[in-house]
Amino acid sequence: MFNGSTGPLELEIGCGAGGFALEHCKRNPSIRFVAFEWRKKYAREVAFRAEKHGITNLKVIEGDARMEVPRLFTPGSLACIHLQFPDPWWKRAHQKRAILQLDFTKFLLTLLAPNGRFDFRTDVQDVGERGLKVLEQAGFHNPLGPLVFHPYDAEEAPSTRERRYLASGQPVYRARLVKLAQP
Ligand SMILES: C[S@@+](CC[C@H](N)C(=O)[O-])C[C@H]1O[C@@H](n2cnc3c(N)ncnc32)[C@H](O)[C@@H]1O
Repeated sequence: MFNGSTGPLELEIGCGAGGFALEHCKRNPSIRFVAFEWRKKYAREVAFRAEKHGITNLKVIEGDARMEVPRLFTPGSLACIHLQFPDPWWKRAHQKRAILQLDFTKFLLTLLAPNGRFDFRTDVQDVGERGLKVLEQAGFHNPLGPLVFHPYDAEEAPSTRERRYLASGQPVYRARLVKLAQP
């Protein structure tokens, strides 16, 4: 998939229009980055923009990450998982589509290598609080303390949606969790 490159492998679930994936891959050419997006229009657009800009360390997979990720990654293979501004699924009947369900979150933890990271961002406070709780329950370690959000870091690439909030000043809830080498 990456022409023999063996750099750290990172995963993004729901890359949307790809603002984060494209910029992060450009800034970090040694990583291998796999972005999942189930909306055809976005997936194709991000792949097109990667090719147009000569970004070869980004692969976009069009499909449902909940189905595809278990088929494609082996335990301990990932350096980082990114989940940014996941759909909030307001309706109760749709909440089963949320990515951060306890069982799937526990499974994501198994895919990370020791000291691997989980990067979570959202503009919806309730999604942030519930997501952080599920991540910690699943076994991710929060270096800042239980249920504490991470401050904004100007060094990290913003996602497409995040750019909007940075411009308007609307709050963003961020968490950076790790998989402890020795649980
Ligand atoms: C609110 S958008 C945020 C997009 C991007 N992360 C950003 O911050 O700009 C959420 C994205 O996740 C995608 N998505 C939701 N569930 C998904 C799934 N199970 N598999 C793949 N993509 C998914 C949606 O199609 C949408 O593009």
